Amino acid sequence: MKKEQVVNCQFSAWYPIFKKHTIKSLILPLPQNVIDYLLDDGTLVVSGGDNSTQQNQTNSDSEAEEDIQWSDDETTTTVIAPEFPEFNSKVLEAINTLGGRVFPKLNWSAPRDANWIALNSSLQCQSLSDIFLLFKSSDFITHDLTQPFLHCSDRDTPDPPINYELVLRKWSELIPGGEFRCFVKENKLIGISQRDYTQHYHHVSKQEAQISQSIQEFFSQNIQHRFLEEDFVLDVYRDSWGKVWLIDLNPFGEVTDSLLFSWEELTSGNSLSANQEEGDTVQQESPVFRHTTSEVTVQPSPCLSYRIPRDFVDLSSGEDAYKLIDFLKLKKNQQEEEEEEEAQQ
Ligand SMILES: Nc1ncnc2c1ncn2[C@@H]1O[C@H](COP(=O)(O)OP(=O)(O)OP(=O)(O)O)[C@@H](O)[C@H]1O
Ligand SMILES: [Mg+2]
Repeated sequence: MKKEQVVNCQFSAWYPIFKKHTIKSLILPLPQNVIDYLLDDGTLVVSGGDNSTQQNQTNSDSEAEEDIQWSDDETTTTVIAPEFPEFNSKVLEAINTLGGRVFPKLNWSAPRDANWIALNSSLQCQSLSDIFLLFKSSDFITHDLTQPFLHCSDRDTPDPPINYELVLRKWSELIPGGEFRCFVKENKLIGISQRDYTQHYHHVSKQEAQISQSIQEFFSQNIQHRFLEEDFVLDVYRDSWGKVWLIDLNPFGEVTDSLLFSWEELTSGNSLSANQEEGDTVQQESPVFRHTTSEVTVQPSPCLSYRIPRDFVDLSSGEDAYKLIDFLKLKKNQQEEEEEEEAQQ
């Protein structure tokens, strides 16, 4: 995998080409001071004051702009959550345009490893502070910001410049059993894997042929020969009407999880073998389809290890109380909002 391939798989590179076939999204350039804030490891102070997209400005300004203060025995340090008013209003406008609830990403990655920290345990965001909380807790986001060209074979060449972007996608309830990852080599679809391989989905086993067929049609009609690269990994979603949508495009290489395949077999040049019974005549041209075949093979979620709450380890060592203050503040805001909503009903 070359650095150029990684550059071409950025969201802003593929989205304009395949806009019609994917979830509506908006791309906002990430200002340098926001990048610095995301990379600042010291504290997780979520900025944004009032964190909702609704205009519930009943609180007095002084309350909304309350600073977080933390003092210890020797010194008194005041941590002021950085504010990005201009960026914040652009983000809120984009969120509103997308229906009020979004799925956030950077150039390549979503903070999938951080959903446990969110109050709703999901990547659904309604404000910039929701997004910051996820981004600042995610190793995947840090990877995008600090080592996007890891695993590239041309590591001695200078890194191409990257313009960092915040990608906001309209929130869509995707059923994990409908998600598939497709491996494309030399513009040929060679393999399809169930995306959530931790579960056995009965309907996937039952409809294997139809699913594979509809993904192949989607690929040949809408994707093949239209992308900047000839090797890439395509994530698709097959909805309950059988229509296939593009979810994401990823580099063809180790940075991308090969799921039920291995990178060795995908890149070896040998043809892949299906998990079909022996004796099945597999058509030469059709991709190999792999899915989790029985309840016995159910595996733990691959993101579980990221849930070790490093932030809480910091808390227990007494070094990072800001994180707790912030977390509790968000929780309090959420409870207040819920109470307000209940009172209005
Ligand atoms: N717009 C959306 N609304 C709700 N959920 C979404 C949306 N887009 C993606 N998801 C969910 O989040 C998961 C991860 O999304 P996505 O593939 O964009 O992240 P990623 O960081 O590129 O992942 P990977 O590292 O595996 O390539 C998807 O499998 C899907 O379940
Ligand atoms: Mg991806």
